[in-house]
Formats: sequence, structure tokens, C-alpha cells
Amino acid sequence: MTHRHLDCKQFQKATSIFFGIYEAVPRGFGNIKPGCRLWLRTHCVYFSFFSNDVKPMNLISNTAVTKPVIWPVIAIDGPTASGKGTVAQRVAHALGFHYLDSGSLYRLAALAAVRQGVPLTDDKTVAEMSRHLDIRFVGEKILLAGQDVSDDIRSEAAGQNASIVAALPQVREALLDRQRAFRESPGLVCDGRDMGSVIFPDAALKIFLTASVEARAERRTKQLKQKGMSAIIDDVVKELRIRDERDINRPVAPLKRLHDAQLLDTTEISADEAVASILDWYSKTPKSSVGV
Ligand code: DC
Repeated sequence: MTHRHLDCKQFQKATSIFFGIYEAVPRGFGNIKPGCRLWLRTHCVYFSFFSNDVKPMNLISNTAVTKPVIWPVIAIDGPTASGKGTVAQRVAHALGFHYLDSGSLYRLAALAAVRQGVPLTDDKTVAEMSRHLDIRFVGEKILLAGQDVSDDIRSEAAGQNASIVAALPQVREALLDRQRAFRESPGLVCDGRDMGSVIFPDAALKIFLTASVEARAERRTKQLKQKGMSAIIDDVVKELRIRDERDINRPVAPLKRLHDAQLLDTTEISADEAVASILDWYSKTPKSSVGV
């Protein structure tokens, strides 16, 4: 737990909650002695803050508040095959942070749906399944219901299927808490499409990592071949374009560069250079926005 003082925004919030309750408390509780009313209002304010993770100790005599530690997040969003997975993992490793590959969750949801014969566009059923998926990350391996599916979810078909289920609002909602649960001590580096916009809007550092479609196709083709899968670059370019189109134009949590995200174009730079830039930006992130 750390202590800090109410900043201007919190003070405004405190006063608006206080005066909202100032009006509401007498109506809700009838005739109450003035002393009791003040006690009640003050504690209502306390609990209003409590529900928002900000806990003033005493709003009348003392402005010090207790705020739970919120572990810092580095959110890396970008299009498919931009290299964000490799870069994010290396940044996490360098900082000793946890790592979340959020795309793998959509890939797993799609794989489970295909295996159970559920149509990929059946939002309600895929969402229900996603909520209860037995997923385990064991080192480099990803287990679905105890079975190693690390390679199965990495095919182009699995990526396309993931992109279809990822456009469904109830599926996204079902995976929200799962993703947020990765925010643990001492911090998290995550990659995806909506890390900075929806999952961790308070991330200490937001990156939009991209590269030209040709560079991405080349990297993806190489990756697939290394895994013993067949890949033709022209086909990969076409598939990336289809996926980009779907990820950018969907109504829920579309992929887009946020105004507060650093742009990192990796077309002409190596993964090591990208990692160095992110570490440098992070080192310059003001402590107050790091959340600890
Ligand atoms: O990052 P990836 O290629 O493994 O992601 C697979 C698909 O999942 C991608 O086409 C879009 C979707 N996705 C998403 O919508 N939101 C995320 N945070 C991560 C992935």
C-alpha cells in the first residue's frame, strides 16, 4: 500500500460525490441528527471511493489517501505479424514483467469452437465457452483442456478464425477479466489490438507497433516455414490484408492508433532496436503514471 495526496481530479470527484450524497442522505434516511448525517455522508464518500480503488482516510481533517498498488502495464497494440509478440516478450524479459499474448486467447476460443462444432459467428455460445475455457500457459506451451495446442493455434487458418470470433462483442466481454488478471507484481507487458484502449486504458506506456504489409508477410512466411508449415508469400499478403481489414473496421474494440500511444514502425528496424526504444520510453515514463 502506498499513501498519496488527493490530486485536483480526485478532489473534484470527492466534492461531487459528497454534495450528491449531501442531497441524497437526508431524503433516504429521514430525520437524522446533524452529527449523524455528517458521519453518514463522510462514510458514503469513503465507500464511493473505495469502490473505485481510491480510499480517502478522512476527507474533513486530512487529505491523505490510501491507494492500492496498481502494477504498471506496457500495452503494445498493432496489426498481425508486426513483430509485437517478439518485442513484447523481450521487453517483459528485460524488465522481469509478466507477459500476456492476448491474441492467443482469441485463437484458443476459436479453436475450441471449431473443435466443438460451434459456428464461429455464434456470439453467445462462443462467449459462454470462452468464459469457461481451461487454458494454461506453461513456459512456451499453451494447453487447452490439458492438451498442448501451441502449434494448432499458430496456423494462418487459426488466425483467421480468431479474427472472426474477436469481432463478437460478447466474446470480447467474456475475455475481459481473464486478460486483466495478468496484471500482477511487478508489472505486465501485453500485446494485442485493444490493450491500451479497452483492457488497460491506464497503461503506463502505450505503443502502436506496426510495419508495412510486405515486411509483415515476409516475417510471417519465415515463421511458418520455421515451424514446418507451408507458406507462399503472396497468399500471406492477401491473408494479412483480409485480417487487417476485419480488425480495423469492426465496431467493437477496433485496432487503431491511440492519441497517447507512441508509434513504432519496425519495417526498417530490428526487434532489438524496437525493444531498446520501448525500454528507453519506459525509463522516461514519469513515476506518477507508472501506477506504483
Ligand atoms: O495477435 P494475433 O494475430 O495472435 O491475434 C489473432 C486475432 O485475434 C487477430 O486477428 C485479432 C484478434 N485480437 C483482437 O481482436 N484483440 C486482441 N487484443 C488480440 C487479438
